[in-house]
Parts: sequence; structure tokens; C-alpha cells
Amino acid sequence: MKSKIILDTDPGIDDVMAILFAEANPEIELKAITTVYGNATIENSTHNALYLKQKFKLHADVVKGASQPLVRPPVGPTVIVHGEGGLGDVNVPTELTEQVTSGAAYQYIIDAVKAEPGEITLVAIGPLTNLALALQADPSIVDLVKEVVIMGGAFGENKHYGNVTPFAEANVHDDPHAADIVLTASWPVVVIGLDVTEQSFFTREYLDTLRDEAREVGQFIWDVSRFYLRFYSQRVGIEACHVHDPSAIAYVINPELFTLREGPIRVVTEGVAEGMTIQKCDQRVYPTDEWSVKPAQKIGVAVKSNELLALYRRSIIDYALLS
Ligand code: BDR
Ligand code: CA
Repeated sequence: MKSKIILDTDPGIDDVMAILFAEANPEIELKAITTVYGNATIENSTHNALYLKQKFKLHADVVKGASQPLVRPPVGPTVIVHGEGGLGDVNVPTELTEQVTSGAAYQYIIDAVKAEPGEITLVAIGPLTNLALALQADPSIVDLVKEVVIMGGAFGENKHYGNVTPFAEANVHDDPHAADIVLTASWPVVVIGLDVTEQSFFTREYLDTLRDEAREVGQFIWDVSRFYLRFYSQRVGIEACHVHDPSAIAYVINPELFTLREGPIRVVTEGVAEGMTIQKCDQRVYPTDEWSVKPAQKIGVAVKSNELLALYRRSIIDYALLS
């Protein structure tokens, strides 16, 4: 059976790669795209999502979400990684025919999971503000979602600790309070963090081949990735980019690509380690313990990277040839 997903996203270059992956793979039904600030402002991330809907004739609703974090001052768009408007060098037309579905993203999420209890997987690949707002407005949704899959966080596995600070990943760092709410709620969460996303690479050669084999969609992924690859080349020192957001989609399609570890997770919300994610994995009883009172969640600690890359490639090529 297909997995029905709502994709909460801040497009964003790798978000685009993930949205097209979700649309392309026949195991997924992309029901809606809910937008959030992060890589770009909420205006730009929503406009970029609508552009994708228009360009690739997506059936998914696009619903506008939060413009800022719950508590902390906004970090601001990640221009250095994703470009001025969020899609690197790609010029997005100012006028689009597609329109947003009215209402706030968090309310859309609540209504959707209530309408189809146990059916919908929430996949969040941006700051977690919309999901936290949904939980605050209607805590009963914890029993109504099928699963929550998150690209975010870093737990030090495979020596991956952070990407915007030495100990924080961007999506969690953008709204640590929201992340702590989402990760400690009693719904089933799987975190696909830097521990696994930084183990997979889209190399220049991989993206060149995809451009040559996957027609318009391959060309678009190639176009949008130029800016991203320049950032990686200049700032990270590799001729490839990490496979962040598409890895969360890969988990939904085939969870067996990942090895998981279980335990309650907390997020550091203030101070020098703001945005750090910490999982408690032992059963020891401590005099003070802010973890053991929270539900155990799962994190990815290993990934079959070659299989993941092959799955992405096959999905995009088959979609391109069918379109
Ligand atoms: C995450 O941050 C954003 O820049 C990417 O889109 C991804 O969701 C990686 O840390
Ligand atoms: Ca993202």
C-alpha cells in the first residue's frame, strides 16, 4: 500500500530534490506540501513550492506555514547554502498560476490526520515549527498520525555532530523549542539526522548522469544543484553534496535502508549548545533525568548509501520517462 504523506518543507535546494523524489516514487502519495521558513523566508519557500507544483503538475496541496520560530529570534534564510530566494541560481517566475490552499499549515495537518486516522505520515524536512504548533493546538493528533519522519538533528554517530554550529544541525537550530516539543511528544518519531544524511553523497558525476537520463526533471535537479555544489566545494571541501532531505523520503519508501537506535531525545534550547540533540540510550536510573519521563524515539545510525542512491536515481528516471 502507498504511504500517504504530508511533506513539511522549506524549499530549499535539497527540499526540491526530496519533493520530486516523493512525487516520483510510486510507493508514496504526496498529499500536501506544508511550507515553513528556514532555507528561505516563508514567502519564498511557499513561492518555490508553488513553482514546483506548477512546473511538474503536482497534485499536492501547497499550504503556507509558520514565518518564524516559537521562541528564539529568527536565524534568517540560509542564503549562503541555498541562494537569495532558496533555489540557488534558478530564476523562479514572479507570477505563478498555482495558488496556496487557504488556511494555516498547522491546521491543515490537524484536519488531515483527523480525517484519515492512522493513515498519514508526516515528513518534516525543515524547522519543526508547524508540527509543534499543530501539537499545541490539538494534542490528540499524537494518536492519529501513522508516523513522523524528520530530517534534522545530529547525535554524533559516524562523527557527525552539527552543520551550523559544532553541535547543532540547521533545522533543529532554527527552532530548538519546537524540536523539543515534537521529539518528546508521544507519537512515533524516526529521526534521519546528519548521522546518516552525511554518509550519502550526490557527486557531480551522479548529478550529471541524472541530468542526461531523466529529461526535464533530471535537468531541473541539475540546475538547482549548481549553487549547492559551489557551497560544498568552497565551504565543505567536497565535490558533492550530502543527501539530507531526500534521505527522509528514502526512509518512508524503504525503512530497511537504515539501522535505527531507540531512546528518548531532548533538545538543548539555550546556551552555547543551542539546537543540540541528545538521545538517552541506557536504562540506568539517575537522581535527575529529563529523558526517562519521555517516550523512546528512533534515530538513524547507519545507512545503505549505495542502495539509497540507486533508489533515488531509479525513481527519478522512471518518473521522467513516464511523464
Ligand atoms: C537541513 O538544513 C537545510 O539546509 C536543508 O534543507 C536540510 O533540511 C540540513 O541540515
Ligand atoms: Ca530542508
